[in-house]
Amino acid sequence: MTPRTCLSIILAAGEGTRMKSATPKVLHQIAGLPMVAHVAKSADKAGTDAVALVVGHGGDTVRKAAEAFAPKADVFVQSERLGTAHAVLAARPAIARGHDDILVMFGDTPLVEPDSLALARQKLAEGAAVVVIGFRPPNPAGYGRLIEKDGRLVAIREDKDCTDEERKIGFCNAGLMAIAGKDALKLLDQVGNSNAKGEFYLTDIVEIADKDGLQVVASEASFESVLGINNRAELAEAEAIWQKRRRRQAMLDGATLIAPETVYFSHDTDIGADVLVEPNVWFGPDVKVADGAVIHAFSHLEGAAVGPRAEVGPYARLRPGAELHEKAKVGNFCEVKKATVEKGAKVNHLTYIGDARVGAGANIGAGTITCNYDGYSKFFTDIGEGAFIGSNSSLVAPIVIGAGAYVASGSVITEEVPGDALAFGRARQKTLAGKGKELRERFAAAAAAKKANAK
Ligand code: UD1
Ligand code: CA
Repeated sequence: MTPRTCLSIILAAGEGTRMKSATPKVLHQIAGLPMVAHVAKSADKAGTDAVALVVGHGGDTVRKAAEAFAPKADVFVQSERLGTAHAVLAARPAIARGHDDILVMFGDTPLVEPDSLALARQKLAEGAAVVVIGFRPPNPAGYGRLIEKDGRLVAIREDKDCTDEERKIGFCNAGLMAIAGKDALKLLDQVGNSNAKGEFYLTDIVEIADKDGLQVVASEASFESVLGINNRAELAEAEAIWQKRRRRQAMLDGATLIAPETVYFSHDTDIGADVLVEPNVWFGPDVKVADGAVIHAFSHLEGAAVGPRAEVGPYARLRPGAELHEKAKVGNFCEVKKATVEKGAKVNHLTYIGDARVGAGANIGAGTITCNYDGYSKFFTDIGEGAFIGSNSSLVAPIVIGAGAYVASGSVITEEVPGDALAFGRARQKTLAGKGKELRERFAAAAAAKKANAK
């Protein structure tokens, strides 16, 4: 049996102004990824073969963004906002291509789980023509109600069109639907707009299908997973739900989070087993943490790869291009950017390593700075294996410190240090016997004279 093909239609045409933003609503982010991209991701996990994105008038920003998260999506424009069925029909050419399953999703319902979509598809495979994803919100006001009769789902009534009796129903339409491809256009073309809002409602296909003798079923999802976002308070709620799910997943995958509620993941964080994450850690986009690594408290990571059993923080900042190999250490108040810290190397205290390589086993003393920028260009610092950089040194790039070299504390290094050499880049110390006491007496006398004069 050949697997069923699936078209996912994502509606992102409705603008709304409640985000109070220059950014279209569906591009507001959760875990660093636009809401609509989360929807596309779930659709993809549920086995989507083709994506149709329906944008509104002026949807160019969304179209442009889609190049990143759904490069193969067909983008359709619904130039007039005439209702959800009308929006789905904007993707008519995609529907007409004849997929077995059609999933309809809203771009502002980002937490939809692939399992719910897959289950809906399963019900299509079992013979349903329409599958409605329903849920039971704490307060059903504003949602379409699922009207059941003799155990059949016979209609969805929008809140505004409900009778008082229907309004008491707690089982509501989440807005997500699965439609059998072979019936889709026939059903959608019958939708009219004689309702309270004068819109073409997608939800009307339930009644149409039931009257045509087609099978319509509801599939229940959790309230959290079908949360629709209309303002930034709801966006933050969705973020919290997403983070909670992700933390749980990280723990189930074998990471220890001591205070999970204080750890923030990005949509693409890749975290291994036996990783320990202490409280208050932020993962920005594009971070990989290998097995057995430790991320100490208050660290901020972005665009970084942390190798097996490496250690980061507390209070460390790993910026894009930071790459820590096995057992490397980047300690407190250190910043690493576009630099490799090779196996077992230590960058432990108050240090900036940028545009650099720190060779295996090297030790970078406290307060060391790679001076990588002259205000115009960036330059590279290459520190060889096993080198020792004394505390508070400035390595002025471009510069090479050879393997096994030793740099004296407080040095300003501007010339290459060959392997195994010892380099001093500081003024020589001068010590004058008894001069300290003499100086103190002179200062004390001057101060006493000044005080006497003032009287
Ligand atoms: C919709 C459902 C309702 C459900 C609720 C869940 C319909 C008719 N109603 O109502 O049963 O309980 O969602 O949140 O489907 N859109 C377009 N073009 C349009 C109209 C809408 O693209 O012309 C998009 C919007 O961007 C949005 C989605 O469709 O993503 C839902 O539209 P909205 O107007 O918010 O529908 P609701 O009234 O919330
Ligand atoms: Ca809505």
